[in-house]
Amino acid sequence: MSDTLLVTGASGYIGSHTCVCLLQAGWHVIAIDNLSNSSPRTIERIQEITGRSVPFHTIDVRDESALTRLLNQENISAAIHFAGLKSVSESVNKPLTYFDNNVNGSITLLKVLHQQGVRKLVFSSSATVYGDPKKVPIQEDASLSATNPYGRSKLFVEQILNDLSQADPEWRIATLRYFNPAGAHESGLLGEDPRGIPNNLMPYIAQVAVGKLPHLSVFGNDYPTTDGTGVRDYIHVMDLAQGHVSALNRLFAKPESFTVNLGTGQGITVLEAVAAFEQACGSHIPIQVAPRRPGDIATCYASADKARELLNWQANKTLDQMVDDHWRWQSHNPNGY
Ligand code: NAD
Ligand code: UD1
Repeated sequence: MSDTLLVTGASGYIGSHTCVCLLQAGWHVIAIDNLSNSSPRTIERIQEITGRSVPFHTIDVRDESALTRLLNQENISAAIHFAGLKSVSESVNKPLTYFDNNVNGSITLLKVLHQQGVRKLVFSSSATVYGDPKKVPIQEDASLSATNPYGRSKLFVEQILNDLSQADPEWRIATLRYFNPAGAHESGLLGEDPRGIPNNLMPYIAQVAVGKLPHLSVFGNDYPTTDGTGVRDYIHVMDLAQGHVSALNRLFAKPESFTVNLGTGQGITVLEAVAAFEQACGSHIPIQVAPRRPGDIATCYASADKARELLNWQANKTLDQMVDDHWRWQSHNPNGY
């Protein structure tokens, strides 16, 4: 495949790993990011891993004229849109910043793509659009809701994309609902590099393991789960990245839009994740039980059936591989990039 893709948010966690898979699958990639939550060193590492060159532009997706200038110069066949802000707690304090980045950013990108005749898009949505699911595993036709501005920004964009593909069937849009990405590229060169204290479980455990944080607070041990701690569907970031290659292949093959979960279909508790990480790093991870985190749900994991049927894709890596790779990245890069 020698078509060229525009990848927004390319230097971020999921974007960077996906660029590796796209390049290895033979696509050309033009990378853009405003670097608000990532380092340009990521792009160097992608090039080091793949031996391919990746043109990178520091562009904000809300900057219509910069995007237009870029797309006037490049012959893009499709876009993969990762760029956005993703902290739930920050979104509660800064809702306008989140709607501006995630919703206005997406609208601006769509307008420019449309003007340039590009009609294929892969969008990063989230399992957060299922709110508190009534049943698990969660299927794509489950009811949708949002409990915070971040979640609402994803839901709004999903609805905008639905309206767009109905108004103009030329659009082929893949909406991918990610469950909980974790792990890193097996080389230890790419991984998640959160700024400040991490919000999410795996990067938090990793920073405890490397000695940057004293202990993990386990948010609640009285949930109706096997050991009382929250259950999530942790998916290796390279499996997730590969899911984007499969989604693109489908978009190029069939004139249809679709929405799929990208998860493993398996739930893991907080304590199971800690135990796996202890095996990977060979040391004890101190924990303290703390109150439930506001807004948290007990159990969330995907039905992975639709992705298997529609995309011929499934997650292949184990929890042990995920924590091994996460630990390799964290221990080789204790201060990130
Ligand atoms: P990330 O923060 O590592 O990557 C996002 C990238 O987008 C960053 O490099 C950031 O600098 C860039 N960016 C933000 N706003 C921008 C703007 N206006 N213009 C240009 N670039 C901008 O996050 P990630 O974990 O790689 O997430 C990628 C996407 O997947 C996001 O849309 C996120 O909401 C979604 N998602 C992430 C998770 C997760 O747990 N990581 C789960 C579900 C969905
Ligand atoms: C969070 C976001 C969600 C987003 C998802 C993936 C919140 C409220 N929700 O969800 O919108 O889609 O990340 O990016 O932030 N845990 C601890 N201690 C910690 C951190 C987490 O016990 O220090 C527990 C949580 O209570 C939960 C599990 O670990 O049971 C996973 O937490 P996290 O990694 O933050 O993911 P989500 O809760 O799924």
